[in-house]
Amino acid sequence: MSEPQFPVHNTFQEAAPKPAARKPGHVIIVGNEKGGSGKTTTTMHLIVALLRLGFTVGSMDIDARQRSLSRYIENRRQTIAKENQPLPLPHHIIIQKSPFNMLQEVETDERERFIKGLARIYYSNDFVVIDTPGSDTYLSRLAHSFADTVITPINDSFVDLDVLANVDGQTMKIVKPSIYSEMMWEQKLARAKRDGGSIEWIVMRNRLSNIDARNKRHMTSVLNELSRRIGFRVAPGFGERVIFREMFLQGLTVLDIMDGRTTSASISLSHVAARQEVRDLLKTLQIPVIDDRVNQLRNVQQQEADNQAAAEARAESDAEGPAQRLSEAAG
Ligand SMILES: Nc1ncnc2c1ncn2[C@@H]1O[C@H](COP(=O)(O)OP(=O)(O)OP(=O)(O)O)[C@@H](O)[C@H]1O
Ligand SMILES: [Mg+2]
Repeated sequence: MSEPQFPVHNTFQEAAPKPAARKPGHVIIVGNEKGGSGKTTTTMHLIVALLRLGFTVGSMDIDARQRSLSRYIENRRQTIAKENQPLPLPHHIIIQKSPFNMLQEVETDERERFIKGLARIYYSNDFVVIDTPGSDTYLSRLAHSFADTVITPINDSFVDLDVLANVDGQTMKIVKPSIYSEMMWEQKLARAKRDGGSIEWIVMRNRLSNIDARNKRHMTSVLNELSRRIGFRVAPGFGERVIFREMFLQGLTVLDIMDGRTTSASISLSHVAARQEVRDLLKTLQIPVIDDRVNQLRNVQQQEADNQAAAEARAESDAEGPAQRLSEAAG
């Protein structure tokens, strides 16, 4: 069976049906208090994938120290301006660090900044995607408590597993959940208390490599065990690929290159695999509006292909008539 195709959409927002009364956007937090696990990389790809499906996206950077997501979006804006490229953009905001010193004042101020920032993008977008810092901060905890979905990318190594739980190196048994897992538990309770909602937690393996197949298998079994114990789902994840990092300065992703046909860059097998990994992440989220949109646009694409085939068949038979008559006249 051929690989299902995601639709190509250059008329981004036009593809999105506009509901009469807007519901709040679905909030996705990309979080892991360990630095360098792929949060910003995952966030960038998720935002562009959602935009390219025709959704409106509000994005928020609460990593005011590094601001990597904000720099990426600024790079994207510059590419649009310099190269006149029709790239879809999110409505992006940064939550600045509080200038206060006293802990209580800082938290009150940051809470206010976060709520005001979220309010600007919450009801006006289908999705809100938030990139968080690689450390345990008040803002990060607060943001987690507003999530509908949390995605935690982890590097595919046992060194990084301890963000989820302490694992006994000899027996591979789980000793106890980590501080981050406990924080997730607390934020699930905070969310339930605030509005009765629930948080779907997805752990995503990142920078998978084919070199160490034994480590990969071990990670799979420990993660599966952890997912049952701690209560998350495991996404297939992203491989270690140059394409996931090389277009940061242009503010582009593999999806822009392949689906948007924005550059003349040649397409490699790694591009195709990377795009599939992003699509698989979307599928793992199990968010009905995304699945519906993918099916809806796939049907439109199929219909267009059928129309094209029918038009070609008609053109062929139109050409056949005169040819037949000529051949009969020529005896
Ligand atoms: N799948 C991947 N393939 C190749 N490089 C990757 C991949 N994922 C992340 N990287 C690279 O790893 C580095 C760290 O990634 P990223 O900045 O996304 O992590 P982070 O969790 O946001 O870090 P921080 O905690 O500092 O905010 C970056 O140089 C990024 O380009
Ligand atoms: Mg980051």
